[in-house]
Parts: sequence; C-alpha cells; structure tokens
Amino acid sequence: MAESANVEELERNARLRREIEEQITRRFAAEDDILRQTLEAQHKAGLPTIQISPIQGRLLQILIAACNARKILEIGALGGYSGTWLARALPADGRLITLEIDPKHAEIVRAAFARAGLADRTEVRVGPATELLPTLQGEAPFDFFFIDADKEGYPIYLDWAIKLARPGSIIVADNNIRYGKPFQDPPSDAGNAGIAAYNQRAASDAQLRSVLLPIDDDGMDGFAISVVLS
Ligand code: SAH
Ligand code: DHB
Ligand code: MG
Repeated sequence: MAESANVEELERNARLRREIEEQITRRFAAEDDILRQTLEAQHKAGLPTIQISPIQGRLLQILIAACNARKILEIGALGGYSGTWLARALPADGRLITLEIDPKHAEIVRAAFARAGLADRTEVRVGPATELLPTLQGEAPFDFFFIDADKEGYPIYLDWAIKLARPGSIIVADNNIRYGKPFQDPPSDAGNAGIAAYNQRAASDAQLRSVLLPIDDDGMDGFAISVVLS
C-alpha cells in the first residue's frame, strides 16, 4: 500500500517535471518552422535524434550574447540543429565554423543552414576534429565553443578550445553528466573516461571557472560550462 503510493507520487513528479519543461520551452525557447524542418530533415536522412533540447539552445544563445561572441567554433554538427541556435545568436558580421567527421552529415547541415538563411555566416568543415583543430590557429581567437562530438576526444577538444580562446571566451560541452557514469571510478569505457578527464580539468584548471549544469534528460545529463579567465 505505502509502496504503491510512492510509485504514484514518483510518476506524478515525473509527469510534472515534463510539464514544467514543456512550459519553459513554450514560453522561453519555442522552436519555429525552420528548427522543426531541420529536425525533420535529420530524421528523414536516418540520423539519430541526439541533438540538444530547445532550452539548451536558448542557454547557448544567452551565453553567446553575454560574451559578445562574434566567432563561434562547434565540434560535432549532426544535422545542424544546435548550429542553427548558435548561428542565430551571432551578430550579422559573426561567423560559426562547425567541424563534422561525417560527409553525409555535413551535407545535411549545409542544406539546413541554407534553408535557415544562415549560409553567409556559417561554414561546415569535414574531417576528424583532431585533424581540423590545428588548422584553425590562424583564425583564432574564438569567443565561444560548443563541444558535442565523440566523447573520447573531449580532453583533446578542451585543450584546443583553451588554445584557440581569449580571456572571456566561454566553452560549453554537452553530455558531461551522462547519468553519473563519468563519476564512476574506474570509468566503464573510453567515452566516459574522456568526459571524466574533461570534467576533472574543467574543475581544477586555474585558467577556467567551470560548473556542470544538469539541464537535459530530467537532470540526468547536461552541460559543462567554463569561462576562460586568462
Ligand atoms: N551538436 C549536435 C549533435 C552532435 S551529435 C546537435 O545538438 O544538434 C555528434 C556529431 O559529432 C555527429 O554528427 C558525429 O558524426 C560527429 N563526430 C563524431 N566524432 C567526430 C570527430 N572525431 N570529429 C568531428 N565530428 C565528429
Ligand atoms: C549521444 C551523443 C550526444 O551528443 C548526445 O547528446 C546524446 C547521445 C550518443 O552518441 O549516443
Ligand atoms: Mg550531445
């Protein structure tokens, strides 16, 4: 009896959390037709549904405005959904470069940016991020970074983001909570080990001020957010 009451309460709370997220999305982060079309095209092409949420998209835009970002670097483009949120937060003379290993994804992203009227301020570069990042040094500094590619590579991507940043740049990485798996010792696989190493450096590097923010999957996943101090 007491137990079934508990289950009901848990279900009620879970429902309520979903309703709250829907209300926040509707009021603060509503998708327009373009974003919906981006998701539709991503789905039709058989790409996985692993893009950021609208609330995450809005938070990225707030951080972009807060650091006056004109140059943004994204690692991991998928179908261009997060890229559309990022590029829309740029001033007219701003620029988003997004790195994507899969040429098929890259083509879908280019089409999405063109449909969104963002072709003039965006560029998709194709290849493994570890190969592309060293070629970006002549285009640094970047004001804002969004890291959302293979999780094994996260420590290297953080290294490069710091190299390509200026004081005041903001670095955001997705999936840095992952249902607590990156906190397990030892980590269960290379992806979780990569995120654990990223989180460790974000927490302790004197150049960075950072936090993990549960903002996705009912608080079970979320962003690492760092500001570069010096
Ligand atoms: N940021 C996207 C989701 C990215 S999913 C969004 O929220 O809309 C992860 C993407 O990273 C995939 O498209 C995958 O092909 C790409 N990726 C994986 N490994 C990569 C690598 N080594 N270099 C560049 N991109 C990579
Ligand atoms: C996966 C990758 C992501 O970037 C994400 O946000 C969710 C899931 C994945 O590879 O499964
Ligand atoms: Mg992600």
